[in-house]
Amino acid sequence: MTKGNRLKVLFVTTELAPFSKVGGLGDVAGSLPKALSQAGVDVRVVTPAWPGVLEKVAESGLKTTNIKTKVYSAYDWRIHSAQIVKADVKGVTTYFLKSDDYSGAMYPSQLNYWTASPFAIFCMQALELKDAIDWTPDIYHCHDWTSAFLPCALAWHRYYRQVGGKSIMTLHNVAYQGIFEPSPFLEASGLEPWSFSSSTMEFYGQVNLLKGGIVSASAVTTVSPTYANEIQTYESTRELSGILYQQRSKLRGILNGLDTKYWDAEKDKLIPKNFSTKDLKGKTACKRELLERAGFDTENDAPVIVGVSRLVEQKGFDLVLNGINEIKEMGAKLIILGSGQDWIENGLSQAAEANPDCIKFFKGYDEPLSHVLYSGGDIFLMPSVFEPCGLSQMISMRYGTVPVAREVGGLRDTVFDVDRPEGGNGFTFQTCDTEGMLWALRRAVERYQNKDAWRDIMLEGMREDFTWDKSALLYRDLYQDLMQ
Ligand code: ADP
Ligand code: GLC
Repeated sequence: MTKGNRLKVLFVTTELAPFSKVGGLGDVAGSLPKALSQAGVDVRVVTPAWPGVLEKVAESGLKTTNIKTKVYSAYDWRIHSAQIVKADVKGVTTYFLKSDDYSGAMYPSQLNYWTASPFAIFCMQALELKDAIDWTPDIYHCHDWTSAFLPCALAWHRYYRQVGGKSIMTLHNVAYQGIFEPSPFLEASGLEPWSFSSSTMEFYGQVNLLKGGIVSASAVTTVSPTYANEIQTYESTRELSGILYQQRSKLRGILNGLDTKYWDAEKDKLIPKNFSTKDLKGKTACKRELLERAGFDTENDAPVIVGVSRLVEQKGFDLVLNGINEIKEMGAKLIILGSGQDWIENGLSQAAEANPDCIKFFKGYDEPLSHVLYSGGDIFLMPSVFEPCGLSQMISMRYGTVPVAREVGGLRDTVFDVDRPEGGNGFTFQTCDTEGMLWALRRAVERYQNKDAWRDIMLEGMREDFTWDKSALLYRDLYQDLMQ
């Protein structure tokens, strides 16, 4: 691609690390655009300025410019305007939309017409942005249900369907679909009434934004090849699986990468001591710091199992809670950082209270502390029920922390059991039950005793290529295919 005719792609995302990150979507939106830009794509990002976002932008020392023209969208019989704040984030032009519509919590706990509206307004403002910035995207690249209204609008909105432009819907997690009552959304959104049918966005009498996005987008991608196959089965995605199967000719599974400059044991400033494949000594200091923070004996060489996670059913923490006694019997320490559903938080708090010498639960979301866990742990536990891609297992490997993971979704594409004839970088299990997880954990804990064998496994993981290099080219190919 030559500079003059570079493909123009607008990333439309409701999370953007490090300013607004809930999970991996934030990481992807914060790192893939840069890789695409290096691959020759003219990519820009638009995202809502949720509460606190512009403050974080300012704290990070980035220079911002307020664009003179505002962006407007018509929704629920009113004009909604947003101030456009432009910044260069790691070489990628990024537009933060500031408006009262984005002044509430990032993601609503209950979805209904009122709480879904900011997401529809955001998508329309993303479509309107082109005039204000004098840059018209060839492709709108949307992510999850929160920006799925955009392809729907390009296909079915009484005005936007005449505007033109291709769209891509990337599925980071099909478990969240944006389902709510149709009234008064259909009238308020400007979508044609016929967009609410079983072949479009209607889903058992409700609006399903993700279904609408999948059906209307020019292409659909998901974040690992295995998950792309899994989501076409009823076992994985229930009623939506039939739609994904119907749409399979436009579905591609492209594995996520990481910002390997940020997640780098050799340079990371958030860990007590740096280390690398050439010199692992610093990891001992990281482990000591972690043990100290957990309130554990720092001289003890017991294997330390860590987890950094949203605490939701997807992540398989019921398996962990059911296996607490066996984990203790293995002589291991367990340190978890996370927040989410009450039953998991309470279960972990109780387990930690009952076993203060070997279980520690850090409740909450804490980016700097996550680096201490990734670098100080020996084993990273990820027994997910399903996992579209998973970044945590890749991050842990970058820090020589060996994953124990279930063979599902993107975990299956990135964690390979060391006991395969060809070797691997971690320990895996198939069945989603406590016994399966304990079987893999026991093997890991036993192998940990053999220091040489363990170092080889650590090095294997640290040497994996988790950059965006390969996947960015696959996205670029897709963009090019769409423009044929
Ligand atoms: P998901 O997107 O399903 O949450 P991923 O593994 O793709 O899972 O990405 C999770 C990202 O969120 C990782 O960067 C992980 O370190 C981060 N993360 C999750 N929970 C926490 C937490 N409590 N504190 C800090 N970072 C967290
Ligand atoms: C979702 C998925 C996770 C994936 C992330 C980024 O949150 O749960 O598996 O890694 O999106 O694509």
